[in-house]
Amino acid sequence: MALSEKLLDMFNQQIKHEYDSRNVYFGMESYLREKSWDGFANFFHMQAEEEMAHCRFFMEYIAFVGNKWEMRELKAATNEYESVLDVFKKGLVHEKFITARIRDLYDQAVIDKDYHAQKFLDWYIGEQAEEEDNFTKWIAKL
Ligand code: FEO
Repeated sequence: MALSEKLLDMFNQQIKHEYDSRNVYFGMESYLREKSWDGFANFFHMQAEEEMAHCRFFMEYIAFVGNKWEMRELKAATNEYESVLDVFKKGLVHEKFITARIRDLYDQAVIDKDYHAQKFLDWYIGEQAEEEDNFTKWIAKL
């Protein structure tokens, strides 16, 4: 089922958010590498790679339903942090922002009665719960 015009626009914006997430995590990795926190740096490298996969799934879905995806302007990402704890706290804030965007997408898919898009977005709902849980646990440990 083709996406509504509104949901297609939101999916394209989500591609940008997922790319921005990749850059946020590469910025965090850069900070951690410079401090020789290599284990944490590797963790954020993997997070950044995962964000690429999240982008890709949206691209493939858009193509699958017969549309073209768009590459929108990305935000610059900082590599300035105060500590490892600061990195994780800001990572959690960022993931909460992404969770809110995924919920917006889901809400629109419900309005559109687009059951296929809802099923696609189910994976992201679970993924975001996992991401937030992971960051929250690291903050508690640190
Ligand atoms: Fe793709 Fe970490 O949200």
